[in-house]
Amino acid sequence: MLTVSHLQSMKDKGEKITMLTAYDYPSAKLAEQAGIDMLLVGDSLGMVVLGYASTVQVTIEDMIHHGKAVARGAGDTFLVVDMPFMSYHVSLENSLNNAKRIFQETNAHALKVEGATAETLRLIERMTAAGIPVIAHLGLTPQSVNVLGGFRVQGKDRLTAQRIWEEAQAVEKSGAAALVLECIPKELAEIITDSLSIPTIGIGAGQACDGQVLVYHDVLRYGVDRLPKFVKPYMDGNEDVTVSLKQYIEEVKSSRFPSDEHSFTMNHDFLPVMKR
Ligand code: KIV
Ligand code: NA
Repeated sequence: MLTVSHLQSMKDKGEKITMLTAYDYPSAKLAEQAGIDMLLVGDSLGMVVLGYASTVQVTIEDMIHHGKAVARGAGDTFLVVDMPFMSYHVSLENSLNNAKRIFQETNAHALKVEGATAETLRLIERMTAAGIPVIAHLGLTPQSVNVLGGFRVQGKDRLTAQRIWEEAQAVEKSGAAALVLECIPKELAEIITDSLSIPTIGIGAGQACDGQVLVYHDVLRYGVDRLPKFVKPYMDGNEDVTVSLKQYIEEVKSSRFPSDEHSFTMNHDFLPVMKR
């Protein structure tokens, strides 16, 4: 059985933690077979696979629907599910009820929440006490994009860097099992990583983090138009898929598909009778 102590022991041994998002059964299965340490059903699913304009539109039902599909493909990979926009801000009781629902219905190993307001810290404490491990998420927190003023690097100046550092100490103190650091300078990520005992998992946060996470479709450059600077695509899915689909269309139009190789045949004794 996988628990957060497994992640902690990886940090303690200096073994890098690998994480990818997954939104459905095949992506989970392929990532699991490739040997990924952790899968995240990120609320980025809203933009990446549902075509929403931002993560703000993602619902609890979306997260559960996709979380269940990922869980079925994930084998025994450590599974994290995002709590979506406003599902943990109305009241502590409402947040705990939503957490309970997502955790139970997706069978996740942990849930992830963004930010470190007093309310969120209290929630991290209460969820952890109730037996739901929490992954925190600081730096660029996309659910607050309308307040942050866009998708940009956070913590470049002393004041905001200091604030993110303090938030990192606070989420650890509140019981967070790990911390995702998104889009912050690598120097800041290193200072935070060294100062915490829980693992940090970076995305656009440099080499010093205890682990790395990227969006599945970004790694494959599949169905995404623009990639942020911090993404390294390991294949060109857009190109490869487009070439294949065009070839399929062309072969059907020109009657080259299906050939005999992809067709069934009848018992030829009957054929003359049938044709009559
Ligand atoms: O939703 C997501 O994909 C995430 C990762 C970028 C960390 O939260
Ligand atoms: Na997210």
